[in-house]
Amino acid sequence: MNAMSTRVTTSSALQVLFSRQQIAVRVAELGRQIDRDYAGQSVVLLGVLKGAAIFLSDLARNIKVDCTFDFVAVSSYGKGQQTTGAVKLIKDVDHAIEDKNIIIVEDILDTGLTLSFLHKMFQQHKPRSLRIAALLDKPSRRLIKIEADYVGFSIPNQFVIGYGMDYAERFRNLPDICLMPPDYPE
Ligand code: IMP
Repeated sequence: MNAMSTRVTTSSALQVLFSRQQIAVRVAELGRQIDRDYAGQSVVLLGVLKGAAIFLSDLARNIKVDCTFDFVAVSSYGKGQQTTGAVKLIKDVDHAIEDKNIIIVEDILDTGLTLSFLHKMFQQHKPRSLRIAALLDKPSRRLIKIEADYVGFSIPNQFVIGYGMDYAERFRNLPDICLMPPDYPE
């Protein structure tokens, strides 16, 4: 392994934007908020693979109301940091969402293309309610008007990795949310 590849294989060498402790505190707050909003009801946490997998698993363990999981997958950025703008459903839900309280769980609300595509699509399936939980929000990047109902942290236009979020499929396993080094080779 050369020096370039080892430099970003542990979060200790990276600039941490949100530590695992900060994330845990915020995710617990979101869980309490969801418990209050859905008291006495059931919710379906609908995770967007793969980036939201870790957020969903932590969020779910901070929710006390009756809750089930489902997952969808959409086309992503591909290898680099730029979006192509095209969103395609790769994996649909396993269970019908009609008349259910759905919370779409996403890692990042960036341009808004992915979540507005999913929101529109799921709305057609007549859920009882449809909300969005995004761990991170980059409002300055928005191309489509859409807001999340539950937001972990708002951040400026920075590319981040870790806690489920990737660069070319790597770094999802970093426990902290870290800044992508600007000099990392494409
Ligand atoms: P949007 O459709 O532009 O809102 O993009 C949403 C998706 O882009 C997220 O679910 C991520 O998969 C990806 N994405 C956006 N920003 C970042 C980032 O900073 N790091 C990793 N993935 C990102």
